[in-house]
Amino acid sequence: MTNQDVNLYGTVHGGVIMKFVDDAAGAAAARHCGFNAVTVAIDEITLMVPVKVGDLVHAKAQVNWTGKTSLEIGVTVFAERWNEADREPVNVATAYLVFVGVDADGNPRHVPQVVPESPDDVRRWHEAEIRREHRLARRQAIDRHRADGA
Ligand SMILES: CC(C)(COP(=O)(O)OP(=O)(O)OC[C@H]1O[C@@H](n2cnc3c(N)ncnc32)[C@H](O)[C@@H]1OP(=O)(O)O)[C@@H](O)C(=O)NCCC(=O)NCCS
Repeated sequence: MTNQDVNLYGTVHGGVIMKFVDDAAGAAAARHCGFNAVTVAIDEITLMVPVKVGDLVHAKAQVNWTGKTSLEIGVTVFAERWNEADREPVNVATAYLVFVGVDADGNPRHVPQVVPESPDDVRRWHEAEIRREHRLARRQAIDRHRADGA
């Protein structure tokens, strides 16, 4: 992180971390699909620890769940001081994002299924299903408002 990334308080702007999260998740989604995938929803992004100028920031992104054309990616972000290699990286943020696989015209297309392997993968799959229910309920509410012209 550089001094171009700071907010008014001198720590790294949340939006910088959010873009990084979206980029990391997008790379995981496209790699899993083998074709383009676009972000359709970002939720439960939690920024737990301030990131500072000079921190080396890295992310781990994993496909948690796949549907017909959509997939959920979980992202964990870590930061470490550039000059403190002996210290463990700190978990500074987590997020869940939904991507949709798209064809050349931008229409949804079927995505390859992910197969949960470890007990943690199975847990993530089930938790992703719960989040999906909530997202779809919110999406229906948004669609109703749009249909009403609100
Ligand atoms: C992504 C996009 C093509 C999907 O089109 P759509 O008409 O909503 O498609 P559908 O209603 O068929 O939904 C496609 C999938 O997304 C899921 N979905 C749609 N909205 C969702 C939401 N808010 N949360 C979770 N999943 C959602 C649907 O459940 C469906 O999943 P499934 O096939 O696995 O069951 C369209 O919304 C779009 O182009 N959005 C803009 C994307 C963008 O520009 N992103 C930024 C650049 S990367």
